[in-house]
Amino acid sequence: MRWKLLLTVCLVIVTKLVVGKNVKYAEAEAESEIESGQFFSQLYKSNLRQMVRMKNDSADPCDDFYAHACGNFDQSLVDEDEVPPYLYNKQDRMLFFQAQYGNFQTLPGRLISQLYSECRSRGESHVLSVKPQLSHWERLLEEIPFLREHGEVLSAWPFLRHQWERRQLDGRLNWIALSAQFAAHGFPTLLHIYFAPQTIYVSPLQDLPCPSLAEFQSSMSDVLEGRHPNVGHIVAHEMRILCRGMRGELPLVRSLTRNGGTTPRPDQEQLLLDDNTMEYFQHFFATLNFTEEQLETARKLPLDVQKISQAWQVLRQTEPRIVYNYVLWQLKEQLLYTDCFQLAEEFERLLHCEYWQWHVLSPQISREVALASYQLHTTRFQQRRRSTLSRRDWYGHLLPASVERKELQVARLLQSHAQAYLNITELNHNYRDLGFSSNAFHRNLLLLRRAQLRHSFISPYIDEEDVNGPAYFLRHFLHFVLLSLHRPTYHYYATQGLELWRQSHLLLDTDGRYTALDCLERQSLQQYDSRLAPIYRQLSADEIGEIFLFYRSFQASLRDYRFWLQGERFAFAEAFVLKYFHLDPQRVLFYAVAQQLCSRQTDIFAAQLNRGYMNMPEFQEAFKCDLKPDKPMNPPARCMINMCD
Ligand SMILES: *[C@@H]1O[C@H](CO)[C@@H](O)[C@H](O)[C@H]1NC(C)=O
Ligand SMILES: *[C@@H]1O[C@H](CO)[C@@H](O)[C@H](O)[C@H]1NC(C)=O
Ligand SMILES: *[C@@H]1O[C@H](CO)[C@@H](O)[C@H](O)[C@H]1NC(C)=O
Repeated sequence: MRWKLLLTVCLVIVTKLVVGKNVKYAEAEAESEIESGQFFSQLYKSNLRQMVRMKNDSADPCDDFYAHACGNFDQSLVDEDEVPPYLYNKQDRMLFFQAQYGNFQTLPGRLISQLYSECRSRGESHVLSVKPQLSHWERLLEEIPFLREHGEVLSAWPFLRHQWERRQLDGRLNWIALSAQFAAHGFPTLLHIYFAPQTIYVSPLQDLPCPSLAEFQSSMSDVLEGRHPNVGHIVAHEMRILCRGMRGELPLVRSLTRNGGTTPRPDQEQLLLDDNTMEYFQHFFATLNFTEEQLETARKLPLDVQKISQAWQVLRQTEPRIVYNYVLWQLKEQLLYTDCFQLAEEFERLLHCEYWQWHVLSPQISREVALASYQLHTTRFQQRRRSTLSRRDWYGHLLPASVERKELQVARLLQSHAQAYLNITELNHNYRDLGFSSNAFHRNLLLLRRAQLRHSFISPYIDEEDVNGPAYFLRHFLHFVLLSLHRPTYHYYATQGLELWRQSHLLLDTDGRYTALDCLERQSLQQYDSRLAPIYRQLSADEIGEIFLFYRSFQASLRDYRFWLQGERFAFAEAFVLKYFHLDPQRVLFYAVAQQLCSRQTDIFAAQLNRGYMNMPEFQEAFKCDLKPDKPMNPPARCMINMCD
């Protein structure tokens, strides 16, 4: 019963789409008027046109499918608006965000919206402004309060020893306070402190930045302008010694610590707090303004204590001036924030909170309809997941009752997760009164990061990559909605649907993998010819693993697509549209997947993709290579077809 209902709902959308397209194609290319509904079918159409343009019809798909599908890739991207296919999904999200951020209505959404527009307008000069254009560094000094208080001194940064001494900066500029304050605003430079509910983790900074001398110098070229060329060299050299020491790359450090006798043994989990670290924590927590009680009751978990101790040992032995230079250098680099769309990813929870309220999406598609179609799209995946889970009896006991029910209710799971995770009341409470100023991107970014850090101390930890968790599906659901506004439906199966299967590990099968390993190796040995059949080159074990997983995921995704098509009207709609472009539903997914890889490491992907396809019965059925004896894409003995599910 429920299915009938769902299908009806979906059919309504699709019928509307088809009617729209019908009119569209009948009226041919001449249209110029763009309403929003038409806008999407324009996109749909341009996607298909791009797919057709990209393939090389003179190249036989049975010789080298990858070469056929991508043959005209370079010529096909003539239009500036067109995007290489492998950027499809992120590009869609970006386009949607850019078109809509001005319309955001929730508090979290408006915060991102303000930051984004400020980020974009940095460096734009205002016609009416009498102020001269500020450089990145000058803007930081002006916007960020704890830099502005030393603005006059800092305009002479980076410091050499004689400057530091002459101006007596030792008492005035404190690297511990500086680094701790920035860390509390989400910019760690010497130590990484982060939170889970009621838990404080302290860990060394992963990937402490340590570029080459030349890179150090070029990154400071703006502030070094007008100073003696040696200054850059000296400062860069000092910082590089420091960061290499902190990363444990210099032998000097080890001998010093050994003589000092303070290196804790590796098994010693307690972090020894010296004066510097104590002071650091004081500044850090004061800036975050946690209550005494919060701090006392929280669990404290230092990670990799030995590495922290060693790095702080190096700090202790380094001139404060050099550490100060290094901390400021890191901040200046981190605050460059060259790609403003990164904001949407960094604060995704806030963005998704806005989307989930559906204000900007409701003109395109209602939430109920979107949920219903998403449920349909993931149905086979969910069924498989459920049967795999319940087969593991010992594990099945641990599953919540909802998973045991006959129908896995993706929509309901998503709703209840979203109500908690994207709880608008809670987010409004945590992000209110941040004190944003207008036109101060960097300052506001610091404030938002600080609020996010504070929030993480009371917010349950969520692993968004866990394919068994609702968070994963919530995120993919929102991506699905944006994708379906921009792309033909098969695209969902060629991108997200395929990914879903690949990442889920539901299709892992050790026996199958070993059989494939043997068989593919034999294929390489028998067929390889560097001139006639380069696609049979030798494969590494990892590559064979990839091919095996790809093969099975592709088949699963293709079956999903066909399941979706089985609704009579879906098939009709899809066939109708594709026919216009001389494509068909049987073949389209092979192109869509292959074209995502065009022009990306061709030598690697060409072999992987072709070897996957040529062994697939569905491929042979669609492209009929099995009827042509001596074609490379028709191996005399095929691999991986004897697997039982
Ligand atoms: C298309 O394929 C034909 C036949 O293989 C080839 O000669 C031609 O160079 C290809 N075109 C492009 C643009 O690669
Ligand atoms: C710090 O927290 C206290 C109570 O939790 C509050 O009264 C005070 O205004 C906060 N200070 C700042 C600077 O946010
Ligand atoms: C949302 O947050 C508010 C305030 O923290 C809380 O009272 C409410 O129960 C939450 N709602 C859900 C569904 O978790």
